[in-house]
Amino acid sequence: MYKKVTVIGAGNVGATTAQRLAEKELCDVVLIDIAEGMPQGKALDLVEAAPIEKHDAFIQGTNTYEASAGSNIIIITAGIPRKPGMSRDDLIKTNMNIMKNVTAEAAKQSPNAIIIIVSNPLDAMCHVAYAASGFPKNRVIGMAGILDSARFRAFISMELDVSVENTHAFVLGGHGDTMVPLPRYSTVAGIPITELMSAKKIEALVDRTRKGGGEIVSLLKTGSAFYAPSSATVEMAEAILKDKKKILPCAAYLEGEYGINGLFIGVPVKLGSKGIEEIIQIKLTDSENAALQKSADAVKGLVEDLKKLA
Ligand code: APR
Repeated sequence: MYKKVTVIGAGNVGATTAQRLAEKELCDVVLIDIAEGMPQGKALDLVEAAPIEKHDAFIQGTNTYEASAGSNIIIITAGIPRKPGMSRDDLIKTNMNIMKNVTAEAAKQSPNAIIIIVSNPLDAMCHVAYAASGFPKNRVIGMAGILDSARFRAFISMELDVSVENTHAFVLGGHGDTMVPLPRYSTVAGIPITELMSAKKIEALVDRTRKGGGEIVSLLKTGSAFYAPSSATVEMAEAILKDKKKILPCAAYLEGEYGINGLFIGVPVKLGSKGIEEIIQIKLTDSENAALQKSADAVKGLVEDLKKLA
């Protein structure tokens, strides 16, 4: 029998995540959305693609949570985009309530699942899901760092004209303007990029990585990135389902690591069947540490805003 992954929110990120999970034949998928008929339609379409894509994963679409019972993983992409005239606070409040409700419903059906949060603002939404699920911290994980480092890797590969497979990149911190790419730990075939590019060029790539989400939004005009975000989410799910013990940058709840307490923030973690099996602490230079603390302060500010809105 296949393992089961529930994807909540069948929009661009959710549906593409379901597609990638099924086509890699990692698990059966339950796709949940509030929009009537939409998750059912997308699921059926994916099932009808299966004979051509040659996989036997089953995808079920639904507007309720019963079918999600006993899931190994719950992936949350639900939310609404900002509408004209809507303030940022209104948007955060609406998405916070959506996150609270869907997490509680899903956690009730799958008390042993591992939750992967994708909805933005990511680090703050992790706090909401952590509280609403009541799950231990190793089973609530945010997707951000893999996406940010994949963007950095794509830019490094384009700049140096080398295979993306030769690239490795490290990004810490919150998922936003204050993210902390670490060029010293970013390599091409094991060689630090600091040996391969000028400091000025690296800074330009780092800057593009920081603004990576916005670059896609301004090109698409409506909506935000979903191909790379779904790939990043599926890499996490695969590491968990296959108990790979893979070290990946994810948003994790810190209790003293990196001098940060009571906050979700992006750090390298070991992902396996238990979720976060270890938080990897690497030595940072003074300036890297200062950038990480600044990023943590930005996340803390957002979490405090959420508390005021709650
Ligand atoms: N329950 C279930 N689904 C919901 C709910 C709810 N309470 N509220 C909204 N949704 C669904 C919407 O109906 C929509 O189909 O969430 C889906 C979101 O899909 P899109 O609007 O296409 O957004 P998407 O591009 O997929 O992004 C989702 O991921 O990367 C982040 O910033 C992004 O927070 C956003 C999220």
